[in-house]
Order: sequence, then structure tokens, then C-alpha cells
Amino acid sequence: MVNEAKKVAVIGAGNVGATCAFVLAERKIGEIVLLDIFEGFAKGKALDMSQGGQILNYDGRVTGTSDYKDITNSDVVVVTSGFPRKPGMTREDLVEKNAEIITQVGNGIKEYAPDSVIVMVTNPLDLMTYHMQKITGFPEQRVVGQAGILDSARMTHFVSEELGVSNEDVQAMVLGGHGDTMVPLPRYTTVSGIPITQLISEERIKQISERTAGGGGEIVKLLERGSAFYAPGSAAAIMAETILNDRKRLLPCSAYLSGQYGLEDIYIGVPVILGKNGVEKILELELESEELESLTNSALFYKDQLKSILGY
Ligand code: NAI
Ligand code: 2OP
Repeated sequence: MVNEAKKVAVIGAGNVGATCAFVLAERKIGEIVLLDIFEGFAKGKALDMSQGGQILNYDGRVTGTSDYKDITNSDVVVVTSGFPRKPGMTREDLVEKNAEIITQVGNGIKEYAPDSVIVMVTNPLDLMTYHMQKITGFPEQRVVGQAGILDSARMTHFVSEELGVSNEDVQAMVLGGHGDTMVPLPRYTTVSGIPITQLISEERIKQISERTAGGGGEIVKLLERGSAFYAPGSAAAIMAETILNDRKRLLPCSAYLSGQYGLEDIYIGVPVILGKNGVEKILELELESEELESLTNSALFYKDQLKSILGY
């Protein structure tokens, strides 16, 4: 059975969007609409996923479209449409091309799903989340970006490998922008409640933090075509599920700051409580001066990009 009351639209049926839709289908989250500029691409993937329902025991409520009318009444819209990185590119190299796509998509969401919560995935994530909020005019808490869950999961994986413990027992916390300026926080990264600062040497923690910050680039380099999508698509699905089921999970997400951490008018990764209204609360961790400086520098980098490239 699926939950009839819930509807999720996933914009962009590419690697991340399709993975997100598939994870949601498997979790029997409700009705899923996959929208892509290429209608057949969305329809084909939706049909394929629907047929997988018998095998994996979910009901085939995935449809594909290129018509925004079909996203009407969506509770959550996950936005993955846009170009991914190629080897040698930074996420910021995508800004102008992807901003045009987000303008188009944002207008569609505003018209047909004006009450939805938007989960942004398109890169550069923090800039595109800001741009989406401006295009739709939605309240800031109803537009939120996926990055911190992925970046924290990457750090979790590296810590679990380092210690030879299960992923399940590791909790990492990575804040800041989804790019080279991200801020892994070892002090808030624990294994069954024990801070990793008590378990791993300072030198190795530094290496793990650096590998985390370069985690997306490492995969781009290996793939040579496109960027990561299993973990990113899953992370976006978890955000959609959290919002749809009003789970009030505490997750690192790109949220609009209006004074928290001494920062304002910027989307950046911070710990939030996520529920049916989107970002329901922003948590202000006690940061040491070096950590706060890194978060501030990350935010200033994106503020500069918003102004110089997007004219905000
Ligand atoms: P992809 O190329 O596989 O898929 C993108 C899809 O967007 C394509 O199917 C394309 O037809 C569609 N699209 C393009 N313009 C559109 C429009 N105007 N309307 C509707 N659909 C449109 O790319 P992939 O790997 O799925 O990545 C998607 C985006 O997500 C990229 O910008 C990538 O950098 C970003 N990303 C973000 C992550 C994060 O943690 N925030 C992690 C991984 C990827
Ligand atoms: C990632 O972190 C490229 O943002 C994408 O994998």
C-alpha cells in the first residue's frame, strides 16, 4: 500500500532525481511524480520503477511527465534538475547555467505547487537554494537545501572505515557550504556518543576532514562522466520523507540564516529541525572561534558569489 495523502514531485529525472524517486518508492512514501524537460526520459524511468514494484514489494505509483500541471498538490518538491560537474570543474562553475534552469523550474513550482516545501539539490547548492527562494517568493523555511546529510554521511563512512566500526554507530556533523569551504566538525562527530577526538589522532582527523570536503570531487574524478548520485539521491529522499511524515529530525541542511551564527541573508549548512513546515528551527551550536571563523568564511564566499554572479 502507499500513503494516499502524500505526494512528492521530483524535478529532474537524471541520476540524482531517479535515485531519489526510487528510494521514495521503496519506502512506500506515497504518490511520486518525476518531471524532466525530456518527457520520454521521465516517463520511461517512472515506468521502469513502477514495474520494479512487484519485485521489491511497493505499489507502482510513480509517473513521469514534462508538464508542471502534474505536480499540482505536491506536498514536497525535490529539485535535482541541472548540470552536474565534469572532472576539473568546481560546483560554482555551474552557477549561471543552472540558475536559468532553476528560474524555469521555480516558476513552475510557484504556479502548480504553491504550498509545497522545496528540497533543493541542484548545484551549486547553497546558491541555487537562495535563488529558488527568490524566484518562488516562498517563505524561507519552505525552501531548504540538501548537502549536510550527504557530507556528514561521507565523513561517517571515512570514520567507520578508520575505526573498523559499523556506519550505524557513527554520527558526523558537517556544516557550511556544499563546496570546498564546508566545515566538518570533529568535536560533534561521535561513535556511539564518544567524540572521535578521543578515538582518532589529530593528524588522521585532519585527513578525514579534508577527504570529506573533497568527497564529491573524488567521485567525479573516478566516474569521469557525471557526479555522485546514490548517496545524494538517498539524502534528498530522506529529507522529503522527514518533511512528509513531520518527523522533526535534527539534520544538517542548507537553511536561510537571519542572524544565527552572526550571519544573515544567506543559505548555508547548519543543524535544523525538519518537519512538515520545512525548517522549523535552526540550532546554534557552541562553536570554537576557529570553527565559527570557518563557517563565516564559507558564508562570505557564497555571499560574494550571489552578488558577483547572480546580482543579489
Ligand atoms: P543528470 O544530468 O543525471 O540529471 C539532470 C537532469 O535534469 C537531466 O535529466 C535533465 O534533462 C534535467 N533537466 C535539465 N534542465 C531541466 C529543466 N529546465 N527542467 C526539468 N529538467 C531539466 O545530473 P545529476 O547527476 O542527477 O545531478 C543533478 C544536479 O544535482 C546537478 O546540478 C548536480 O551537481 C547536483 N548534485 C547535488 C548534490 C548535493 O549534495 N546537493 C549531490 C549530487 C549532485
Ligand atoms: C557531490 O557532492 C557533486 O555535489 C555533488 O557529490
